[in-house]
Amino acid sequence: MAPPSPTSIQNLTKFWRQISVFSPNFTKALLTTSVFALFSLCFFLTFPYSKWRFNCPECDQTLIRDLINGPRLEQKTNISHILFGIGGSAKTWSQRRHYSELWWKPNITRGFVWLDENPARLEPWPKNSPQFKISADTARFNYTCWYGSRSAVRIARILKESFELGLENVRWFVMGDDDTVFFTENLVNVLRKYDYRKMYYIGSNSESVAQDLVHSYTMGYGGAGFAISYPLAAELVRVLDGCIDRYSDFYGSDQKIGGCMSEIGVPLTNELGFHQMDIRGSPYGLLSAHPLAPLVSLHHLDYVEPLFPHTNRVASVKKLINAYKSDPIRTLQQTFCYDLTRNWSISVSWGYTVQLYPFLVRAKDLNTPLQTFLTWTWTEGPFTFNTRKSSLKPCQRPVRFYFDGVKELGNQSTLTWYARQRDEHKRKCDRGNYKAAYLIKGFNVSAGFLDPQLWNEKQAPRRQCCEITGGSDQQDDIVQVRIRGCKQWESVTPP
Ligand SMILES: *[C@@H]1O[C@H](CO)[C@@H](O)[C@H](O)[C@H]1NC(C)=O
Ligand SMILES: *[C@@H]1O[C@H](CO)[C@@H](O)[C@H](O)[C@H]1NC(C)=O
Ligand SMILES: *[C@@H]1O[C@H](CO)[C@@H](O)[C@H](O)[C@H]1NC(C)=O
Ligand SMILES: *[C@@H]1O[C@H](CO)[C@@H](O)[C@H](O)[C@H]1NC(C)=O
Ligand SMILES: *[C@@H]1O[C@H](CO)[C@@H](O)[C@H](O)[C@H]1NC(C)=O
Ligand SMILES: *[C@@H]1O[C@H](CO)[C@@H](O)[C@H](O)[C@H]1NC(C)=O
Repeated sequence: MAPPSPTSIQNLTKFWRQISVFSPNFTKALLTTSVFALFSLCFFLTFPYSKWRFNCPECDQTLIRDLINGPRLEQKTNISHILFGIGGSAKTWSQRRHYSELWWKPNITRGFVWLDENPARLEPWPKNSPQFKISADTARFNYTCWYGSRSAVRIARILKESFELGLENVRWFVMGDDDTVFFTENLVNVLRKYDYRKMYYIGSNSESVAQDLVHSYTMGYGGAGFAISYPLAAELVRVLDGCIDRYSDFYGSDQKIGGCMSEIGVPLTNELGFHQMDIRGSPYGLLSAHPLAPLVSLHHLDYVEPLFPHTNRVASVKKLINAYKSDPIRTLQQTFCYDLTRNWSISVSWGYTVQLYPFLVRAKDLNTPLQTFLTWTWTEGPFTFNTRKSSLKPCQRPVRFYFDGVKELGNQSTLTWYARQRDEHKRKCDRGNYKAAYLIKGFNVSAGFLDPQLWNEKQAPRRQCCEITGGSDQQDDIVQVRIRGCKQWESVTPP
């Protein structure tokens, strides 16, 4: 806590003098006392729950112990407490494994890919893939969805088969598809917010409204991945096989699990970092205006354009992961600010892209994804979030820069750089402001590591702020941006 500034003390003194009948000396004494009291209070509140505060025989000793030692969540959830269950198939694993192998860490991540049959053609089993298990036979179950595939039954049962392995120290079961990319540090971070000893069902639904209408708004979509706490898994396993027959007309495995959740009565806890990615075209707009939540998963990467231009799909996810490794929580976090020396608006999606608009754009617009994509069924909309038209007019488009590299600086911070997209648009805007923008070759962005506690239950979320720290002169072709916490009274407001 910063001490009050001299000017605010002066103002306060003035104010007291005006309203007080006391002499100025008395006022001064009173002021000193109250400032001292305030400091003591701050000290008292920030000082860890030391024993001397609770030397109190009549208090609830359990509560005290918790306060002293932290809550009884013995140890914070880490990656070893998660058991992953990935729905795969023997025939497609050789193509799909590249996505799992991007995030799977042998001997660290726990779990299995569940296959329909023995992967005879994949011998030896790739050592960077999760180990496989073969699902039990599901012929006895009904499946009556005319446009779906029976494999949904098998995949729905992965949760049950994983649970029945009886592995130790599992707090969360996380289900995903064979083309889901998890960002496991962020997943752990999100799960830490929730008490694993209670019943939680955590995930998100589809971006495409039509999908949510056909399937459900209230289930965690399997491709985005969803997490089920141990006690909820225990309840689910008891009723799952029955649900599979009762909801035999449901298309997907995730939907059948959703049906079971209705029976148990546990609603979905929506977390905005799980991405089903039921979109077509370019995910650029979505990923350049990510919500204020850690990136947990990406899915359907084979169905959208590669994340980076001139880069194949898998390599472009690797590129994003490269940034992610340096500052996981900050990945794709959006920050924007103005360069008022030339009325430019600059939006950074950390580790992915910088957009430069050579004019002032309102914050609400910068914060709304450009619609560079269509729905899953190739229509213009609607989506479960707002979008703005991705204008084709050259004098309205942002000039795009893409993440090109990251370096950790010694002082708990990173430098990322973003390079101008090569031969971006055939048609250019020939107004003066755009001509100046086209001369910029790249952005260098510095940022302190983002506090992993940022989104825990104790802190109210707020987007960070940025400022242009260099490159505003005519001859500079690299603009330097610093991302930092916002100051009091700071907002992205045009003058
Ligand atoms: C995770 O927490 C457990 C305690 O439940 C601890 O034994 C283990 O060493 C931790 N693992 C990692 C990777 O931090
Ligand atoms: C994982 O652990 C096993 C047994 O401890 C060991 O044989 C294997 O080499 C390890 N794999 C990797 C990739 O570290
Ligand atoms: C499967 O569906 C058939 C036809 O609707 C029904 O007769 C049968 O009882 C169902 N089986 C189970 C296990 O629910
Ligand atoms: C920026 O825009 C404001 C308001 O539109 C205008 O008054 C000002 O002259 C512009 N400044 C520059 C450097 O273009
Ligand atoms: C921007 O970052 C790159 C990569 O670290 C560095 O080579 C370059 O000198 C930086 N440019 C400026 C103007 O800071
Ligand atoms: C870290 O150091 C660099 C220079 O080495 C400086 O530009 C940057 O502002 C520093 N970052 C923080 C968060 O102190």
